[in-house]
Amino acid sequence: MHNLLAVIMAAGKGTRMKSKLPKVMHFLAGKTLIEHVLDTVNQVGIERPLVIVGHGRETIQNRIAERAELVVQTEQLGTGHAVMQVLPYLDDAQTVIVLSGDQPLLKSQTLKDLIVLHEVQGVSATVLTATMDQPFGYGRVIKNGEFVAKIAEEKDATVDQRKIKEINTGTYCFKASALKEALANITTQNAQGEYYLTEVFDVLIKHGEKVLAYCTPDSNEALGINSRAQLAQAEAILRERILGYWMSEGVTIVDPASTFIDAEVVLTQDVTLLPFTRLIGKTRIEEDAVIGPQTSLENCVVGCGSDVTYTVAKDAVIGERCHIGPFAYLRPGTKLEAEVKIGDFVEIKNSWIEKGSKIPHLSYIGDSHVGKSVNIGAGTITCNYDGVNKHPTKIGDYAFIGSNTNLVAPLEVGEHAVTGAGSTITKNVPAGALAVERSPQVIKEHWLREKMK
Ligand code: UD1
Ligand code: CA
Repeated sequence: MHNLLAVIMAAGKGTRMKSKLPKVMHFLAGKTLIEHVLDTVNQVGIERPLVIVGHGRETIQNRIAERAELVVQTEQLGTGHAVMQVLPYLDDAQTVIVLSGDQPLLKSQTLKDLIVLHEVQGVSATVLTATMDQPFGYGRVIKNGEFVAKIAEEKDATVDQRKIKEINTGTYCFKASALKEALANITTQNAQGEYYLTEVFDVLIKHGEKVLAYCTPDSNEALGINSRAQLAQAEAILRERILGYWMSEGVTIVDPASTFIDAEVVLTQDVTLLPFTRLIGKTRIEEDAVIGPQTSLENCVVGCGSDVTYTVAKDAVIGERCHIGPFAYLRPGTKLEAEVKIGDFVEIKNSWIEKGSKIPHLSYIGDSHVGKSVNIGAGTITCNYDGVNKHPTKIGDYAFIGSNTNLVAPLEVGEHAVTGAGSTITKNVPAGALAVERSPQVIKEHWLREKMK
């Protein structure tokens, strides 16, 4: 017997999004809408909620199958019909919370408060409501004292009912047995010819049962995403929440208006974010690091005390006290140990660079392992691709690579080895050796005078 069951409705197409993706697969601060709702539900202690899917269910399944039990609603006949699909599960539950997959701003604390109020009051159902200045489009909550008398959908509401500012957020808490009984009695007699979940309240009230409303103080939580404009609105609200949270945790954000932080990013005290910075996905920034301006980091780790400026990086790990940029491009598989310097117009891909090495200007380093305290001169390129396969380059500790060296992989340069500027190195260089590959310089004295004769 589950004491508490959660049902998330996510079968609708979301016609107003005008998208090939099902609505709940749209992204908000780096997570899909449905993942926001799943995380909220997990935070109240429900591990595997039921998710009702229909439109685009394969896409949803690929993303969340491990976290939820999917129940298919083949035809979308309304929110009431959606919940009918989980009737067999209701027998095993005492309390059921029903949520919408398109309502990602709901806070777990609000959900906890809703459940507590519902259980303490011992009512049949409790509706999470909010007060909105512009309630257009939402179901209006008609009250009888503190209790709910009815919920009228926009399309069914009378002119007077439409003036009501308390709206149904689409999140509810039910006594499972009451919900089950009431669902058997709802109809499609309404403006949209659908089974409305909200008609359950008419049935319950007719049977003399009590329905409570819990009005959340933060009406933003009620925002349901039905259009791209609402998606952008939700993004703005969530962004402000995330920025506010990190500032309260001791992060300096010089210009919140130009700083974007995804929901799963982790920051640390005394991190500084300079203007026009985007932190994407599961990025983590350690203490005293300074990021920006104009930097975009996706799924990256930045160690303590590093600075990363005018840089684009993805799936890269940057150690402690590194200096990155300006104008560096770190691609997936980049791993930089402590005190590495990556300067301007340097691209690194799938390479491990050990402590204290410097690649200060104009280089491409791919599929490489660079040892400790190596210096790589300006314009050095690893020629890692022969048109068919990629090959590795290994550069030993303390090696010195002269400017404009082409390192033709597969290649090993030994410890303390040196390459002469402008060389194209095709053979391994032993430890401590100098490798030079270039034509001897020719000097023709008085060249200009000869030509003018
Ligand atoms: C619903 C409520 C409305 C409330 C609003 C809050 C009803 C009748 N109305 O309206 O009172 O103010 O939410 O946002 O419930 N879904 C299914 N299967 C279906 C139909 C819908 O799974 O057959 C899912 C949708 O994918 C969506 C959720 O249920 O995630 C809500 O459906 P939607 O059509 O957006 O309802 P609203 O018109 O917004
Ligand atoms: Ca909706």
